[in-house]
Amino acid sequence: MNYKLIEPLDLLWKIGLDLYTLGVTNLGFRDADGDASDTISEAESVEKQESVGVKMDPEEKYNQMKPYAGMPKEVLLLYSSQARYRVPREVLFWLMVCVTLALVAVTITVIALSPRCLSWWQASPVYQVYPRSFKDSDGDGVGDLKGIMEKLDHFQYLNIKSVWISPFYRSPMKDFGYDVEDFRDIDPLFGTMQDFEELLAAMHDRGLKLIMDFIPNHTSDRHRWFNLSRIRDPHYDDYYVWVDCDPNGPKPNNWVSIFGNSSWTYDEVRGQCYLHQFLKEQPDLNFRNPNVFQEIIDIIHFWLKKGVDGFRMDAVKHILEAAHLRDEPQVDPNKPPELVTTEWDLHSDYTTSQVGLHDLLREFRAVLDTYSREPSKYRFMVTESYDYDEVEKTMMYYSTHLVRESDFPFNFYLLDLPHNASGVWAKHLVHIWMGNMPRGEWPNWVVGNHDRHRIGSSAGPAYVRVINMLLLTLPGTPTTYYGEEIGMENINVTQSEIQDPAGKYNTSASRDPERSPMQWNGDMNAGFNNKTNITWLPVHPDYETVNVEVQMKDSGSVLSQYRFLSNLRESELALHRGWFCYIHADANVFSYLRELDGLNRAYLMVLNFGKESAITDLSSIPELPDQLMVLLSTNQVNDGKVYQKSQIQTEAGEGLVIQYSTSRRYNPNHPEECYVSEKACYLPTINILYKC
Ligand code: GLC
Ligand code: MG
Repeated sequence: MNYKLIEPLDLLWKIGLDLYTLGVTNLGFRDADGDASDTISEAESVEKQESVGVKMDPEEKYNQMKPYAGMPKEVLLLYSSQARYRVPREVLFWLMVCVTLALVAVTITVIALSPRCLSWWQASPVYQVYPRSFKDSDGDGVGDLKGIMEKLDHFQYLNIKSVWISPFYRSPMKDFGYDVEDFRDIDPLFGTMQDFEELLAAMHDRGLKLIMDFIPNHTSDRHRWFNLSRIRDPHYDDYYVWVDCDPNGPKPNNWVSIFGNSSWTYDEVRGQCYLHQFLKEQPDLNFRNPNVFQEIIDIIHFWLKKGVDGFRMDAVKHILEAAHLRDEPQVDPNKPPELVTTEWDLHSDYTTSQVGLHDLLREFRAVLDTYSREPSKYRFMVTESYDYDEVEKTMMYYSTHLVRESDFPFNFYLLDLPHNASGVWAKHLVHIWMGNMPRGEWPNWVVGNHDRHRIGSSAGPAYVRVINMLLLTLPGTPTTYYGEEIGMENINVTQSEIQDPAGKYNTSASRDPERSPMQWNGDMNAGFNNKTNITWLPVHPDYETVNVEVQMKDSGSVLSQYRFLSNLRESELALHRGWFCYIHADANVFSYLRELDGLNRAYLMVLNFGKESAITDLSSIPELPDQLMVLLSTNQVNDGKVYQKSQIQTEAGEGLVIQYSTSRRYNPNHPEECYVSEKACYLPTINILYKC
């Protein structure tokens, strides 16, 4: 037998042809009855030709024909095997294969060379809403979810895409929502679950992300679990940390609450003491009980299923305590134990940052990650832990290449800026973070929150703008506490007006001053509540001049500068993902630059945090052009001014953003002075970023 080996190419061709002849019924070859026949055999064909009196050799007959679409298979095959059809066909085939392979290769290379896109929590500042104080929609004097809904335009005006809302769970409000009675319900003061769902949907419609506060360490003493634990319900018996103690006798150990005095309270119902690292109305959960852990995981699922975009994990360092319950060492060993009443009196070795804490947080994280897989649905986690001079403890909350934890732990170091206003101090605080952050991680900066005095008061109103300028031009995510964008200041709260439990224990620790109602306009109650004359805390008397409406109309206002910088941060590659390099620091001025390899437009910041005006000489830096033009000054009259680099002038509290053009990069020659989270270079010819 004569076998002809079919080459793959021929096979492809044949299959194609067969499909073709199957799919396109050859109408030209229908028989007289109208039966469709895909092909007619050669014999039939000759027979037909003979019947009409034509006799022809089939070979010869085909050779005289020109190929056309409705040709039978045999005829087509005859033509297709001729060199003039076969060769171009094969050339085209291989060309197609090569082009496909080249496209795949280019795609893989581009993916491999492209730096990661920034995620939403990196792309925009995080704005903190303290819901009691943001906007009161129903006139009861306390802000609410509908109020936030009314103000979504404000976030968009500031180009803010991530909003963290402090707790709005059902709560007896002993610590204004940080004492949760039901983690799955909304407090009626703030609205209903429907209000929440509507708010979330409205935010998502506008491309805004909602970050919830989450409080794993403790519940309210009115929580169902605590009530069941007090009566020793077998399932809830160990949900909290209970220890035998005598109602009038000594406490189980010397541990103190963050709000002052012993962290143990005797419970009459159960006849034992329970632990509370905050108020006595905030009993600590016992995370050594796996059921407690599972309850918390279930609650995280509950909110993620509703679609929240992330969590700010509250007071995480307190989640676990040492099981041995030994006394903590006193900071001053000679202090009489009865005078040891504040957290500053003890080394909190057994009540914070215990072994196992990070494992718990990583489990929380893993839950978030299961919801992060849908495109553009990344779920974010930030942890709150004040570790003061133990920065390495804070850094442990960062994810690493191997284990995922926080996207970032809050960086509170800039809260200390007002304590020693100078350029050197500002650099020192910035460097605590930059010098200790694990390589490749993403920095963040906080200059105010609901627990700390406002920068407008602690640093003074003259420094609000320069601090916001620092916040928005440093690398990483800025966090802005409501009102800082207009330079709100603390209110004075008299002893009788004190609301904050921390203030009831110690007036100077009161957090009421920074929680006053947001100043929207010059109307009644600053527009916070325009229905009645009630506000839960007094409105600051400066509201007629310091408010959103007035500042929107003034291009030199704190608000306008905030907005300008927030837009600039987003639009300029050098600012949101470029190098950060220290340039200079002295008693007044802190100066740094932001640049990106391959990009000629760079930014120099010259910020005067000191008490005097200064002339900064940067002539020793060859990478800077001789003349520098001010893009934005905190003092609007200096916008557009040109300085010699040897004589850059700033007044006390003045900050300058200088945009300049250069082909000389600073970072390659000063690797010790420069930081970047992920190196990226710009290729101007084709306008792309690549890993370099
Ligand atoms: C966090 C909150 C603070 C609260 C405490 C207890 O530190 O920021 O406001 O009082 O946790 O939940
Ligand atoms: Mg705890």
